[in-house]
Amino acid sequence: MGSFIIFWFSVILTTSAEFVWRHHNNEELIQVLEEVNEKCPNITRVYSLSEPSVRNVPLYVIEFSDNPGFHQAYKPEVKYIGNIHGNEVLGRELLLGLADYLCEQYLRDERSIRALIHSTRIHLLPAMNPDGWQLSTDTGGQDYLIGRNNNHSVDLNRNFPDLDAITFEFERQGVNHNNHLLKDLARLAEPLEPETRAVMRWIMSIPFVLSAAMHGGDLVANYPYDASRSGAPVSEYSASPDDDTFRELALAYAFAHADMASVNRRGCHSTSSEGQAYNFGKQGGVTNGAAWYSLKGGMQDFNYLATNAFEITLELGCEKYPPERDLAREWERNRDALLTYLWKAHIGVKGIVSDDTGFIQNAIISVVNITGHIPRPIRHDVTTGVYGDYYRLLTPGHYELTASHPGYFPVSRVITVPHFQNTATVLNFRLEPTSSWFDDVTNFGQYPHGVLSQERRIYKRSLYKQVINTMLEKKESGTQ
Ligand SMILES: *[C@@H]1O[C@H](CO)[C@@H](O)[C@H](O)[C@H]1NC(C)=O
Ligand SMILES: *[C@@H]1O[C@H](CO)[C@@H](O)[C@H](O)[C@H]1NC(C)=O
Ligand SMILES: *[C@@H]1O[C@H](CO)[C@@H](O)[C@H](O)[C@H]1NC(C)=O
Ligand SMILES: [Zn+2]
Repeated sequence: MGSFIIFWFSVILTTSAEFVWRHHNNEELIQVLEEVNEKCPNITRVYSLSEPSVRNVPLYVIEFSDNPGFHQAYKPEVKYIGNIHGNEVLGRELLLGLADYLCEQYLRDERSIRALIHSTRIHLLPAMNPDGWQLSTDTGGQDYLIGRNNNHSVDLNRNFPDLDAITFEFERQGVNHNNHLLKDLARLAEPLEPETRAVMRWIMSIPFVLSAAMHGGDLVANYPYDASRSGAPVSEYSASPDDDTFRELALAYAFAHADMASVNRRGCHSTSSEGQAYNFGKQGGVTNGAAWYSLKGGMQDFNYLATNAFEITLELGCEKYPPERDLAREWERNRDALLTYLWKAHIGVKGIVSDDTGFIQNAIISVVNITGHIPRPIRHDVTTGVYGDYYRLLTPGHYELTASHPGYFPVSRVITVPHFQNTATVLNFRLEPTSSWFDDVTNFGQYPHGVLSQERRIYKRSLYKQVINTMLEKKESGTQ
């Protein structure tokens, strides 16, 4: 019996590195990730982005998946990014804690965590600005600005290419083109910082569907656009074509958080005169970015306008650098919200676009919202990835989706997105090449680089009637 107890203790000591809630420095950060990786080798992978910070600190990511290192068809990819402003540190610690939690719960066979990891590929980047963290920490961590920027004194959340300017210009010209806009960028307003470049490459190379970046200094979930349409530094609501979906994503985090959406809580800056206007609890804990204050070069709008990813910005608390003793409590206050938001990668519709010979990459999925009386196009297309797969986040309702690609006849299908989804409705498309009908396919033009010469998304009224009739017969008929 004695030897059994000794054996048992030694197993505990050698295999279990207990996660502790405290501020982890840049060396400890990677140790935590490696310990999680050792505990959960089958479902995790630790990697670093293509280049380190200015001060040469690698930007480490831990990935959770049942096939780490690989994209899988039908499995949406999600990311969380912490500590983009070096002196806003809660997200950094929450992501380290989340990594440990996902692993531990997986090992304990917790059902919903296993289901999440088997259906989703999750990437956590706890610190995008490790140099700013160092400066902020070395100087006591209490200054509102010291350590915010990177080591070149550049605010990383203003350093992304300004694609908002392009999309707003297209709007003014009546050009219907609002996605994958990096190709339309003529010049950069300022040079890219290494941290920005590394994150941009990451964003462009993995087919992310959903994302959130974590900040501090207020308590609110902020959604696109961050830039005002006039370009002026004013506070005005700046809706994206996916405004309803973004609001639902932001509200999902806010309502699952302990009190982000609480109407009774105090605003973070309620003593200052201008702060009175911004008690976000009174508006569901969410705000449109530009309605709060307009900014250019932010990461959130870049995600949406350069890729298929939908990103929101989480302000996790009034204090940018909370004391160590508050971290465990902050985890409890955010845990459900962090998990709820990851599940949001599964709302809407997903599927594969193929032809007789295989997958079609870079096919375009466009959407018309046919829930209301007037069909409303959502003028933001998503594209298919390496396995011809697409993920179209949508709120509950009825939609017409069209899959198109140069050289093929477009195909439209109608679909219902139900409430309370933990897996997206599957809608696959099989396209037929136009070459089987016509010899000349050149007049279809290039996409997404150029803009299609003819308007494809003319809504078909006959189809609309047909849908309404089916809906009346079979309420919430669900999938396909
Ligand atoms: C990892 O997978 C292997 C093979 O399926 C299995 O034997 C092992 O128990 C798994 N390890 C953990 C920690 O889940
Ligand atoms: C850059 O890093 C060095 C070394 O840590 C530090 O002394 C310096 O203040 C930093 N500069 C800025 C602008 O953050
Ligand atoms: C579609 O329209 C309905 C009714 O107006 C709305 O509730 C829903 O949020 C819309 N969906 C999207 C994704 O805009
Ligand atoms: Zn910030």
